Amino acid sequence: MNVITVNHLSVTGKQNRIVNDISFKIQEGEWFALVGQSGSGKSMTASAIGQLLSPNLQATGEIKYAGSNLLALTPSEMRKIRGKHLSYIFQDYQGSFTPFLTIGRHFEEYQQRHLDLSKTARKQQAKQALVSVGLSEDIYTRYPVQLSGGQLQRVSIAIALLLKPDLLIADEPTAALDSVTSFKVLELLSQLQAETGCAILFITHDLRHVRKYADRIAVMKDGVIIETGNKDQILNHPKNPYTELLINSSPSLRTMLSLSIEGVIR
Ligand SMILES: Nc1ncnc2c1ncn2[C@@H]1O[C@H](COP(=O)(O)OP(=O)(O)OP(=O)(O)O)[C@@H](O)[C@H]1O
Ligand SMILES: [Mg+2]
Repeated sequence: MNVITVNHLSVTGKQNRIVNDISFKIQEGEWFALVGQSGSGKSMTASAIGQLLSPNLQATGEIKYAGSNLLALTPSEMRKIRGKHLSYIFQDYQGSFTPFLTIGRHFEEYQQRHLDLSKTARKQQAKQALVSVGLSEDIYTRYPVQLSGGQLQRVSIAIALLLKPDLLIADEPTAALDSVTSFKVLELLSQLQAETGCAILFITHDLRHVRKYADRIAVMKDGVIIETGNKDQILNHPKNPYTELLINSSPSLRTMLSLSIEGVIR
């Protein structure tokens, strides 16, 4: 079954069309990668799904989720879905944290908006979530600046998956991390996906990550999806010359192989 169905989505600015009539579906529990060069419209697509576009941009078409068109929801209807059924992690995860609030307070914000739990239960749930992403419970009382980039991105993942969303949108989630930490964070994401059954819309430049984790891939160029298919089809038998170019110009698989030899990844 499809978690989300995007039909003829366009995102338009004052002067130009940034995303141009794209359609794709993401199935339950699937890891769906959206790839393409910088500026091709990947983040615009991700933002349009959760009504997170800047006010100067307009999205048209249809994004079907649980019988509703997400583009037609009011902001308050959308807030009930975002964070609960549909959540995000971003490359700029540091920007998602408020420096003067503890990690615990960041959890509280989501829990109070979407759950009816006692303070003690909220605290226990948050601490369990921290442990589930490989962090210690006492991070709950720390401030964002007291954590490393990798730890903070793990906290983002814990918060994003706290309410067991149907779809996690991960926009370049590891682009600001070193390659060893990136692989560890993605391994964690893959493990949590298997546990929670959520689907992932994974946006990346790094085809090594796509090769390792994706089930299906869509390739975007100049606001248009030029090719969609399963991983083997796209990476080993691309039909579009641009897809082939993208594959040939991606970073070598050497790092991936050496990490696997060192036992960092399997
Ligand atoms: N607020 C805005 N108003 C008008 N155009 C914008 C706005 N934000 C981004 N754009 C343009 O939209 C296009 C697509 O941007 P988008 O951020 O989706 O690219 P991307 O594929 O995510 O690239 P990257 O891989 O670098 O993150 C770019 O040409 C960008 O300059
Ligand atoms: Mg982007």
